[in-house]
Formats: sequence, structure tokens, C-alpha cells
Amino acid sequence: MGEHIHIAIDGPSSAGKSTIANYLAGMLNIPYLDTGAMYRAVALALRDKEFCLNQKNVEARLLVFLKRVDLQVFLQAGLSARQRVLLNGEEVTDKLRTPELATLASNISAYKSVRDFLVALQQSIALNSDIILDGRDIGTVVLPDAKLKIFLTASLEVRAIRRYNEFIERGIDTTLEEVKQQIATRDNNDSTRKHAPLKKADDAFELDTTDLSIEETAQVIYAKAKIFNII
Ligand code: DC
Repeated sequence: MGEHIHIAIDGPSSAGKSTIANYLAGMLNIPYLDTGAMYRAVALALRDKEFCLNQKNVEARLLVFLKRVDLQVFLQAGLSARQRVLLNGEEVTDKLRTPELATLASNISAYKSVRDFLVALQQSIALNSDIILDGRDIGTVVLPDAKLKIFLTASLEVRAIRRYNEFIERGIDTTLEEVKQQIATRDNNDSTRKHAPLKKADDAFELDTTDLSIEETAQVIYAKAKIFNII
């Protein structure tokens, strides 16, 4: 994908990928694509149409379903530039970050037809842009030639606390134990699925953020980008 600045940030749920990618996008003044939001939007579309995943020929039926899904993502460069997601013409951005859609997104992301549909869309968005992408398979599948690949991790405890605090701030009723359980289940789903499982790319730089602040993490990645001569 040529000479563009492509930064891939992968890692397990709630490792801080979106926060860091957003911060870094501000530092570099380039856009950032949260690919998890796209899986969540497809999950929402399937839920709204009461699509049944437990019947025969699910991949073939998903293919037919996805042909009629109009998913549009609008990006802006810079810090706090909010990504907007439109599903069949309706703005769904604020509906996506719920525990229910997180779990459903993880479940439906195991289907090859869903992955093929979204990977193609993500690659077309990245094609002619400087951009940061975050997800589970960016460094391994979506942008295998990205010049900088980061694999963000953090302890389950810290990830659960971060996500719990976010839910509480947004008025979502839950408990720390429940959040921890959901994250552990998603980690397991995402890393054991057959198609494009969550996996560190061989050439990715692993960064454990358990004891790092957002600023510290972003600084480490920024320094890497300088060393690798991509900015
Ligand atoms: O990053 P997130 O929590 O918004 O992602 C929701 C789910 O979507 C995640 O559990 C797995 C799936 N996902 C994926 O399979 N590949 C990606 N690149 C991004 C998300």
C-alpha cells in the first residue's frame, strides 16, 4: 500500500487500543479507524433484523445479508476527531459501545463472510491515506505491510478496571466482576477462532500498558515511529 503512513495497533479487549490510537492520531494529525466499531455495527444490523446464527448455511445467509448492509465510516484527522458510523443511512455511533454489542461483535467476527466484508472495507479506507487502524488482525491480515505494528496488552485486572470505569462514567449499570468475565470470554473467543484470530504479528512490537499512562504509551509508540523513520 505504497508510501503512506500505516500504523497497526492490535491487542486484546480493553488494552487501550482506541484511546492510544486516538491520542497518536492527534500527535501525528492523521485519521484513525476503530475497526471494532465496524464489527459492532454489523452485530447491531444482525440483531435488529433478528438474524438467526443457529440455523444451517449460516455463512451463505450472512453473505446475502451483508450484500444489503450499507456501512459507512467517516473519519477526520487529529485528536478527538470522532469517527462516525452510519448503518443503512442511520447514525449509530453512540449505540455501539455497550457490553451486549461487544459480546455479539466478538461472536459474529468469527464468521469468514463477516471478516471478508469488513477487511475489504478497511483496506479500501486505508488504501490512499496516512492512517492508524486498531483491531485484532490489522498487522496480520488487514495491513500486513504496515510500517509500524504495535501489539498492546495489559493485565486482565487492569483492563477490567479501565472498561468498568468507562461504563460507569457512561451510566451503564454493571459490576467489575461482570466486566472482567466478559473481557476474559471475549479474549478467549477472539484468540481461538479459526479465521484471523487475535495474534501478535511476528514483526509487531509488544507493549504492556499495565503500568503505563496514555501519554507514556503514546510516547513510546511515537518514538518507535521516529526510529522506524515512518514519520
Ligand atoms: O475492539 P472492540 O472491542 O470494539 O471489538 C469488538 C469485537 O470485534 C472484538 O471482540 C472482536 C471483533 N474484532 C475483530 O475480530 N477484528 C477487529 N479488527 C476488530 C474487532
